[in-house]
Amino acid sequence: MATPSSLKKWTTPEIQDRNERILKRPKALNIQGLDKSFYHKGRAVKVLEDIDFTAYKREFVCVVGPSGCGKSTLARLIAGLETIDGGAILMDGAETKGPGPDRGMVFQSYSLFPWMTVKKNVMFGLVEGGMSKNQAEIEALQWIDLVGLDKFAESYPHQLSGGMKQRVAIIRALANQPKVLLMDEPFAALDPKNRLKMQQYLLEIWQNIDITIFFITHDLEEAIYLSDRILVLEANPGRVKEVVSVPLPRPRADDTLLSEPFLATKAYLESLVHPVEEKQIDMEDKLSMVRMVPVDSEVPDIF
Ligand SMILES: Nc1ncnc2c1ncn2[C@@H]1O[C@H](COP(=O)(O)OP(=O)(O)OP(=O)(O)O)[C@@H](O)[C@H]1O
Ligand SMILES: [Mg+2]
Repeated sequence: MATPSSLKKWTTPEIQDRNERILKRPKALNIQGLDKSFYHKGRAVKVLEDIDFTAYKREFVCVVGPSGCGKSTLARLIAGLETIDGGAILMDGAETKGPGPDRGMVFQSYSLFPWMTVKKNVMFGLVEGGMSKNQAEIEALQWIDLVGLDKFAESYPHQLSGGMKQRVAIIRALANQPKVLLMDEPFAALDPKNRLKMQQYLLEIWQNIDITIFFITHDLEEAIYLSDRILVLEANPGRVKEVVSVPLPRPRADDTLLSEPFLATKAYLESLVHPVEEKQIDMEDKLSMVRMVPVDSEVPDIF
């Protein structure tokens, strides 16, 4: 995996060394030649084609790409919620067949059971997995404590803010001790301030437990702030465009978002996700709107 020249100067020996160490870890999630089509009006439409990607143990990977390129489909295939047409998905070296407790999932929409308290929501998977109710309650309360929601253990989802609901969704998934946590735009519905708070929460949790995170987002800044590597997909059909190593040290500082390597990475990702041709088309659309203003009308000076 080559580092693009615009990011090379930010990849210090320490960052390079860390990246190399990540790639030497065992493979947590290994996607091999994955193909997926959906049928539309009797015709097969290829959504994902020949996807090869590996996430290493305790790595934080983000996935970006244009809308409709198949990001959510990829997450659902990894989760075993859809069947694959070709290729394979391996977890810890073993091919997956359908859903399994080794993969947890958090979606954008709050997927909590509205009729259960926070505690019961977190206990649910544990009891389903065969744990006694007493033990499940002890573990659920520890998780709830970890994300600072101890005062809300007996509250119902509708009594929580969006950020709190997502904290519960995350610990509910983590309580089952998955090896990989799949997250599909989990913070997209939050306002920017709460979103940043949740990102910081997630990094803190990730640093403290043995979990590999596969995180889908539309937000390039979010992807850079969170991840070690970014899987960039292209659309029609969804293919791997590039895998970008983030040239930022960890832990990520508060002012990371304003740093030069951060902005350089953002510019580079922009060029991959929204190539120049698309921008030119956008500009042409705008120009035709400008031309709609009659030339002889009196246009007030905007300054
Ligand atoms: N169950 C389905 N049946 C038919 N087509 C589907 C199905 N699920 C997804 N698709 C199609 O597959 C393509 C990829 O969808 P997907 O939701 O994976 O994209 P995405 O990258 O997550 O998009 P977004 O960024 O908007 O969330 C889209 O064209 C979508 O219409
Ligand atoms: Mg999606």
